[in-house]
Amino acid sequence: MKKKIVVTGGTGYIGSHTSVELIKEGFDVVIIDNLYNSEAEVADRIEMISGVKPALEIFDVCDQKKLDEFFSKYKDIAAIIHFAAYKAVGESVAKPLDYYGNNLISLINLLNAMKKYGVPDLVFSSSCTVYGQPEKLPVTEDAPLQPAMSPYGNTKQIGEQILRDTTFSDKNIKAIALRYFNPIGAHPSALIGELPRGVPENLVPFITQTAYGLRDELKVYGNDYDTPDGSCIRDYLHVVDLAKAHVVAVKRLIEGKNKTNFEFFNLGTGIGVSVLEAISSFERISGIKLKYKITGRRAGDIEKIWADPSFANRELGWKTISTLDEAMKTAWDWENKIRSKKV
Ligand code: WQD
Repeated sequence: MKKKIVVTGGTGYIGSHTSVELIKEGFDVVIIDNLYNSEAEVADRIEMISGVKPALEIFDVCDQKKLDEFFSKYKDIAAIIHFAAYKAVGESVAKPLDYYGNNLISLINLLNAMKKYGVPDLVFSSSCTVYGQPEKLPVTEDAPLQPAMSPYGNTKQIGEQILRDTTFSDKNIKAIALRYFNPIGAHPSALIGELPRGVPENLVPFITQTAYGLRDELKVYGNDYDTPDGSCIRDYLHVVDLAKAHVVAVKRLIEGKNKTNFEFFNLGTGIGVSVLEAISSFERISGIKLKYKITGRRAGDIEKIWADPSFANRELGWKTISTLDEAMKTAWDWENKIRSKKV
């Protein structure tokens, strides 16, 4: 029988790509999503790519009663992958209680439900923001965590702490936190991708929207950093590579291959790319000269960070395959397809 995996936030950006990869690997996917930042139609697009339409239950994981109803309906769940969360750094500074409330209550509710209904395994979306500005680069998993720069980042740190404490106190629960660097791009079919609400905060959607004509120009936040070209450096990884890491992590838990009950991994390419290099990549793959100007620094930006993914490479047998150009090309294809309503 197919193993059943619950994907919270499964119609969102990373959740939808992960649902596709899970289905391709023979899992039975059940999505829980409140559609706060996505659409039910994404389940149809997942079907167009994978041939299987995942079950979609529309409710908020913060609603304990609905969660109980869910677990009474769906039995024999092998594992949960928990994506559903708020994720905008700037918004979290303005609305901290929304962020702490949503991101932490959803996690606590799920863990309580796992205990109550005997679901043993959880994969959690964490972030490289837990490292702040690391002293040593590339950053390894044993780098010290820094005080979070935003309520959003703090919810990821506290979330990991909740998992550490829960898996310590209850040996029936195992968890893996995946610390994402900067996911970009879209599925090569251009049927699913990132669709930010309003003005994008992140670099790549801002680039593709500018090129498409939806924004006047991109602001490059600073060229006076201590980096070769003065702009900030990040580790951009293709969302499909990232999605595959979730399949590997969930299998590791189900097959009992985890070394401890709480593990965490850096998911990145290991390559640092500056903002100006990212723009060049976009211009190369699209043939478009991007309109941009250098402005002042953005408050709270880390100067440079990229992953040492060797622990994930070794332990999970996972590594990124796509290049920056390939990822950028899929982001551009997606932008074109979604705007021209050809999806
Ligand atoms: C990338 C670079 C900007 C927009 C993200 C997430 C955060 C966390 C880590 C998951 C920076 C520059 C951006 C623009 C620009 N991920 N930039 N002009 O800051 O690394 O954070 O990854 O938890 O939640 O938000 O990503 O895409 O915002 O910025 O110059 O209009 O692009 O200064 O150097 P960041 P980003």
